[in-house]
Amino acid sequence: METYKTILTKLDVRQYDSKKVPAEGFILVQEKETLKRLAEDSTSGGWVAGANFAVIVLSDPTLGFHGIDAGRAVQNMELAAWDQGVISGIYTGIKDEKLRKDFAIPSTLKAVVVVGFGYPVRKIVGKKNRMPLTELAFIDKYGNKLDPKKLM
Ligand SMILES: Cc1cc2nc3c(=O)[nH]c(=O)nc-3n(C[C@H](O)[C@H](O)[C@H](O)COP(=O)(O)O)c2cc1C
Repeated sequence: METYKTILTKLDVRQYDSKKVPAEGFILVQEKETLKRLAEDSTSGGWVAGANFAVIVLSDPTLGFHGIDAGRAVQNMELAAWDQGVISGIYTGIKDEKLRKDFAIPSTLKAVVVVGFGYPVRKIVGKKNRMPLTELAFIDKYGNKLDPKKLM
């Protein structure tokens, strides 16, 4: 519930620092036919044709770390959706020229990732066989295995 609350409590603030903020954009796709076209404009996301809606995430490739920004935006969307029982999946296999033309994407922006959303067809538990954290995370330097029991 906390994730959704964070999104709900975000305010507009109108005094800005002069630092440049990376440009991003999002295109919401909802119509069945448009979702089908979105699927056709992909090499690895044909499944998006069956989504209830999708979001094309755009970012400015001239800015450093634009991919990270896009990834963070996607993660926020996916977590907020999951919190509401809405499942999602992402794909990056995009036929750039076709997508650009079909969705009028300006040349200054790049479609980095597409996220498909909808309700699941069966109950989703949300458990996965992931590699244990103790094999992925190190302490102080690479190779020093992290023992969660020894952490404060
Ligand atoms: C950078 C990146 C690119 C991905 N591209 C695709 C893709 O093109 N098509 C697709 O079906 N899934 C794609 N995925 C999804 C992964 O195959 C996988 O389903 C997902 O990362 C699993 O997430 P989970 O472990 O949180 O369930 C991509 C994931 C990442 C992180």
